Amino acid sequence: MTFISHCLDIVSSVNEIRDKVLSAKKKNKKIAFVPTMGGLHKGHLSLIRKSKLVGDVSIVSIFVNPMQFGPAEDYSVYPREEEKDIKLLEDNGVNILYFPDKDSIYPKNFQTEVSVKKIENTLCGKFRPSHFKGVATIVTKLLIQVMPDYAIFGEKDYQQLVLINQLVSDLNIPVKVISCPTIREDDGLAFSSRNTFLSEDGRYIASNLYSELLNVADLVRRGGNISNICEKAVQNLLDIGFSSVDYIEVCDAISLKKLDKIEDNTRVFGAAYIGNTRIIDNIII
Ligand code: PAF
Repeated sequence: MTFISHCLDIVSSVNEIRDKVLSAKKKNKKIAFVPTMGGLHKGHLSLIRKSKLVGDVSIVSIFVNPMQFGPAEDYSVYPREEEKDIKLLEDNGVNILYFPDKDSIYPKNFQTEVSVKKIENTLCGKFRPSHFKGVATIVTKLLIQVMPDYAIFGEKDYQQLVLINQLVSDLNIPVKVISCPTIREDDGLAFSSRNTFLSEDGRYIASNLYSELLNVADLVRRGGNISNICEKAVQNLLDIGFSSVDYIEVCDAISLKKLDKIEDNTRVFGAAYIGNTRIIDNIII
């Protein structure tokens, strides 16, 4: 599909995005890049605002990456709202939308995977076995294609952020990764493209993940037993109406190793389902 915009440059091939970036860099412009899968919401808008603060040229990509969805996951129904997204990008002063199609990202005979071994197998990785290989591969590709000075990601997907920091460092990709705090609804629910899948009741239930994480953080700070507190939090979420809980875990914020006592940089992470909708969140302790 072709989209036309008057103030937003929309490009769909690697050559086009490279040409635009190279000509901006020749003029000493700094490139700030926000990779997304579309379904844009206030969380993305905060990343875009940051991109405009740190860079001269703000680039957003929209690509629903099949490689990061498991076979039974929601790839086919993931929000695809291109016209609404383009309007938001225009209204928020984004300069370039990189909007590649599936074949230009994964051409026939594509066979390379990026694997961040330890990080991809913990927390969400235990429940979504190929997810982080998909994320690491697409983010590496996008960074090589766009060659930004800054790449901006949200803390809501904290494990993703840790993974990206690791791969950027391991592969010497010349980009500065910037993280932005989670943006929440008034009741605390973190903005996510998947929230649109929730019914009104589901939406209420979902807001309890954040309150439960606050509760865990409070009890852990008071010196309670971490494993008992997390077990009880899982039960509380089930009692409130979550269909299932993948985990509530207290971990080191850099290595993501599970902790049994709180250290300098500790976070609590949670993932749970309401029907088929998976909600994740995390906060600092
Ligand atoms: O956070 C997301 O929206 C995606 O995981 C990302 C980083 C755009 C890779 O597809």
